[in-house]
Amino acid sequence: MTATLNLKSPVVLYDLHPPLDDFRAEVLQGLRQPQKTFPPKFLYDKRGAELFDAICTLDEYYLTRTEISILQDNAAAIAMLIGDGVLIEFGSGSSQKVRILLDAMPQLATYLGLDISKQHLQESCNRLVADYPGLEAIAVCTDYTQPIALPDIPALRHKHKVGFFPGSSIGNLEPAEVVQFLRNVSVLLEPHGDLLIGVDLKKSKEILEPAYDDALGISAAFALNALVRMNRELGSDFDLNNFTYTAVYNPIGRIEMYIISLMDQTIHLGDQELEFRAGERLRTEHSYKYTVEEFQMLAAAAGYGVKSVWTDPEHLFSLHYLHLI
Ligand code: AVJ
Repeated sequence: MTATLNLKSPVVLYDLHPPLDDFRAEVLQGLRQPQKTFPPKFLYDKRGAELFDAICTLDEYYLTRTEISILQDNAAAIAMLIGDGVLIEFGSGSSQKVRILLDAMPQLATYLGLDISKQHLQESCNRLVADYPGLEAIAVCTDYTQPIALPDIPALRHKHKVGFFPGSSIGNLEPAEVVQFLRNVSVLLEPHGDLLIGVDLKKSKEILEPAYDDALGISAAFALNALVRMNRELGSDFDLNNFTYTAVYNPIGRIEMYIISLMDQTIHLGDQELEFRAGERLRTEHSYKYTVEEFQMLAAAAGYGVKSVWTDPEHLFSLHYLHLI
């Protein structure tokens, strides 16, 4: 681990050298399961990240605008709870959201961004210090889905630490993984830290399914881009004309996203042959939805209590302010 101070930028970078993902090995492992899966983290290549940004602006995708409105409506109350601590953002991509908080917290001295992409992280931290004079930004390049041990960072010592995990990104995890993730996060926040986390709420499938299968076909393009990426990076021969996309709400509480094979077909990937039956589904994502109480139960199992929870008037989305017990 090295701490680097680039003289052109006041952002200190701690590079914890996250292990490189093995795209080929992880993809093949998922494709060999009886229920074929594609790891959701690999949906975000350059094109995938662009398509996801487009999803966030869709009429049907209520999540982003609703979470933003909850943050705006409650920024003063949230700022009071955060106080003059350190804000630790998991995934530094959502700068629009963190800016709503920073605008309400001129007293905040330190922002720490955690992200697996060093370039993305440095760019967003640089923009924050440029726009918020007086704010100290620390960039930590790491895979925050794994247990994290932060180095001894002077600016963090004896400070009240508040994690920020917006976007309902937690929805991609299985509930048991949520508890493990929240426990991993708590290690960073100890001894008395808090966690501000956005969680999408359970609602009718008439609202949920279009959010994940929109009229313009952006959600479909986002999932099908997995095939494009495999063809480009792994040399596979998926023909996009032979696949379609669907999103279905499973009433146990999750949206399931699938690429569907339109025919019996054999795909070549390196020296591997992959059989698809007509109608067979390749799962790209689970997106879990919770009631406020269900999420609070998971948080309690991971050692957190509830300080506050905010929702929008239509009860579409929730923002939880948790604290370590
Ligand atoms: C990034 C996991 C929060 O589940 O709503 C959106 C991903 N996939 N549309 C979600 C996603 C297709 C998104 N998360």
